[in-house]
Amino acid sequence: MKIHLALVLSLLVFIPSLHAATPLEKKMKVMKQATKDLKADLEASGEPDKTAVLKHVTKLREAAEAAASLEPAKAADIPKDKRAEFVAAYKKSIEALVKQIDELAQFASAGNWNAVKKQMGVINQSRRDGHEKFMRERE
Ligand code: HEM
Repeated sequence: MKIHLALVLSLLVFIPSLHAATPLEKKMKVMKQATKDLKADLEASGEPDKTAVLKHVTKLREAAEAAASLEPAKAADIPKDKRAEFVAAYKKSIEALVKQIDELAQFASAGNWNAVKKQMGVINQSRRDGHEKFMRERE
């Protein structure tokens, strides 16, 4: 009995931490890490390491591609008759992001580092716009 109580209590402590992240948030966190790594690659002294850059671009692309088949948590807050439209707009924006990442890969392959840096700014703006439109207020 005592053991069961201890088990239940420890589960009660543990379960809220399971809420942690939605599947979309998990992908977004991978994207965050990939952009952080990319920034570090580009800020390192000397010519950027193309192999490392392309590896991080691939990581970013894979996570963005996976995010496109998920739905924002905010969709549940949207009136039912507007929900499909909201989700479609989200998907369109994420697919635009994937295209921007493809351009980033092309610039990096060509070793056009100025274009890579500029494209990082474009992607960052998409992040800001996407979050403003599709993320819940307090997330
Ligand atoms: C490289 C670009 C992006 C990065 C690095 C990024 C990063 C993140 C991070 C770290 C979170 C977790 C919440 C937080 O800690 O603030 C998040 C959440 C979220 N992001 Fe992004 N994001 C990017 C682009 C986008 C775009 C383009 C969209 C929409 C088209 C978007 C939609 C969302 C949504 C909806 C959430 C909330 C998660 C949920 O609803 O389950 N993000 N993002």
